[in-house]
Amino acid sequence: MTAPDLSIDPFSDQVLRDPYPFFEQLRELAPVVTLPTYGCYAVGRYKEAFELVSHPERFVSSYGMGMSNIQEPGAWRTASPISEIDPPVHTRVRKALAKILSPSVIRQWQHAFEQEAEQVVDRAVELGTVDGIKDICERFVLSVFPRVLGVDVSPELFIAIGDMNFNQLGPNNERTQASVANAQPYLAKYEQSFQRASMIAGGFGEQIFEAEDAGELLPGTATAHVRSFLRGGVDTTISGIGFALNQLARNSLQWDLLRTEPNRSRNAFDEAIRHESPAQVLFRTTLEETELGGVRLRARTKVAYFIGAANRDPRKWLDPDTYDMTRRGLSSQLAFGGGPHMCIGQLIAKLEADSVLGALTRKVARMEPAGEPEYRLVNTLRTLDRLPLRLHAA
Ligand code: HEM
Repeated sequence: MTAPDLSIDPFSDQVLRDPYPFFEQLRELAPVVTLPTYGCYAVGRYKEAFELVSHPERFVSSYGMGMSNIQEPGAWRTASPISEIDPPVHTRVRKALAKILSPSVIRQWQHAFEQEAEQVVDRAVELGTVDGIKDICERFVLSVFPRVLGVDVSPELFIAIGDMNFNQLGPNNERTQASVANAQPYLAKYEQSFQRASMIAGGFGEQIFEAEDAGELLPGTATAHVRSFLRGGVDTTISGIGFALNQLARNSLQWDLLRTEPNRSRNAFDEAIRHESPAQVLFRTTLEETELGGVRLRARTKVAYFIGAANRDPRKWLDPDTYDMTRRGLSSQLAFGGGPHMCIGQLIAKLEADSVLGALTRKVARMEPAGEPEYRLVNTLRTLDRLPLRLHAA
């Protein structure tokens, strides 16, 4: 079988605003479709998405995790020294970084994260009516994450640069070009922020440079590694905690369950990013002609894997459009990817979410919507821009 054409632009305003009808068409048409506008394949079913990320020998990352082929002239983004390499080199690099970001290292940050979350939530409760994104998610993540990484960057810079990065993973469309222009005033400061001389002592960025000195990372890659952590660790986490807050404000039974059993906060977060996945789509490239889901694929061709679609595939999930933190099998969801490139920062994101949800369950009796949430349209990231909430103190 060859991959049938799906002539819908996944990166149009209409689809980005509400991607779920497109995801259904993508899943129902075939296990693999062709997106003729972009000359690439796409998968939306869980089974094929999982197979794609689990076989780096057939579906490589070294041509770029985005739509742009970073090995050809004209690529519109710079490569990552961790996400855009393949085994066996990736295995060695990943091992060195996993040592720096081990679970025991991350656990040491718990107290500081919890204290910061308490302060952010105390202020929000005092305000009563807040924007959950600006007043809680951005305020918290932009305070704790840059600090543990050891970089000093302003919140405005993060948002402008984040939009540019996640747009650039998709096509070089008007949205990408506008976000590049928007990020222009911040680029010099951004580039400077991940140089060795800018690292704040005690952050894990410093250790990345030391690992390069020790020969554990490829020579000359430490700055790009710090940039990769900045790229991967901020917008995704703000988005994911934002979706958890949105669902908990809209589902009082789920909120009550979390308040009575706060140890469910990991599941509350995991389910939030299954239900609305921050990283919506990423890419691999076929090395040679191959087969996926019974479909023949050409060599050297990009394959988009739509995480947001796979995480709502009814073949895998019962009642997939419903938010339910008691759902079984959440650890197999794809919001953090899968296979060798599965998110290396997921424990950090989970600790951040635990800290915020923990502080909220202690200090807030009831949380309700104070208006409609607004999404920000970014090619490959699903994220809220505004989340009006009313908080009732416990
Ligand atoms: C809710 C929050 C997060 C989400 C949804 C998320 C999502 C993802 C996904 C889908 C991948 C796989 C990429 C691929 O398939 O090519 C990934 C990889 C990665 N993430 Fe995350 N991420 C999150 C938080 C973080 C944090 C906090 C950090 C920073 C420490 C981080 C750093 C990275 C890095 C460096 C990789 C590349 C790993 C590799 O290629 O081996 N992410 N992330």
